[in-house]
Amino acid sequence: MSAPTPRRLTIHILRSAPGDDATPHFEAFRIDESEGMTLFIALNEIRANLDPSLQFDFVCRAGICGSCGMLINGRPGLACSTLTHDLGTEFTLAPLPVFAVIGDLSVDTGRWMRAMSERLETWIHATTDADLDAVEPRMEPALAEAIYEADRCIECGCCIAACGTAQMRPDFVGAVGLNKIARFRLDPRDEREDADHYALVGNDDGVFGCMTLLGCHDVCPKGLSLRSQIAYLRRGMAAQGLR
Ligand code: SF4
Ligand code: F3S
Ligand code: FES
Repeated sequence: MSAPTPRRLTIHILRSAPGDDATPHFEAFRIDESEGMTLFIALNEIRANLDPSLQFDFVCRAGICGSCGMLINGRPGLACSTLTHDLGTEFTLAPLPVFAVIGDLSVDTGRWMRAMSERLETWIHATTDADLDAVEPRMEPALAEAIYEADRCIECGCCIAACGTAQMRPDFVGAVGLNKIARFRLDPRDEREDADHYALVGNDDGVFGCMTLLGCHDVCPKGLSLRSQIAYLRRGMAAQGLR
C-alpha cells in the first residue's frame, strides 16, 4: 500500500524587524507536512530550505524552557508542543503581543519577566541567618505539592499575551506575577507577612488591575489554575479588609 500523500501546509508568518522601516507584513511559506510535525519542526524546515533569515526562539523543544511562545492562529501557545496535524492546512503565526519584538516570531520575554520578578521580589525572604548545613524543617506533602504546582510556571508569557489588562497597562504583573506571589505566600520558608505580599500586589498593577478576563487561565500551556491563584489572593486580601 502506498504512503498517504502528505498535506501541503501554507503558513502565514508575521515578519518584522525593529529598526527596519518596512511595515510588519504576513509572508506565506508552503511546506509538506511530515508525520508528527510540530511547529518547531515546520519553522526549522522553513529556515533551512526557504528563508534562513526567519527569526524564532527555541531551546528545549519539550515545553519546559518557555522560549517558543507565539500566537498560533491568534491564540498564545508553545510552538514546540503544537502539532501541525491539529491545525488546518493554512494557519498564521505571529509574535506574542506586549513583549518587545526582536524579529519575526522572536520576542524578549526575559526583560519583562526580570522586571516583574524584581518588582515583586520573587525569592524567599528569610530574616534569620540561614544555616546552610541545617536540615530544612519537614513540609506537609500537600503544601509541598501546592508550591510545586505554582513553580511549574515556565515564564513563557502566554498568560500575558492573552490578557487585556496587560495590553493596556505596561506595569501590570499579570497572572504570572500573581501566581508567584500566591506561591511565596504559601511557602513557610518565606518570612514575609501576608501584608508584605499584599503590599506588592494590592494595587492597579496587581490584583486590582485584574478584570477577571481569564484568558490567562484558558491559555496557560502548563495548565496552571491561574483562576484559583488569583481568587486565593483576593480572598486573603478580603479577609484582611483590604478590598
Ligand atoms: Fe506561561 Fe502559565 Fe507561567 Fe503564564 S503562568 S508564564 S502561561 S506557564
Ligand atoms: Fe488578565 Fe487573567 Fe486577570 S487574563 S485580567 S490576569 S484573570
Ligand atoms: Fe522550550 Fe518550547 S522550546 S518550551
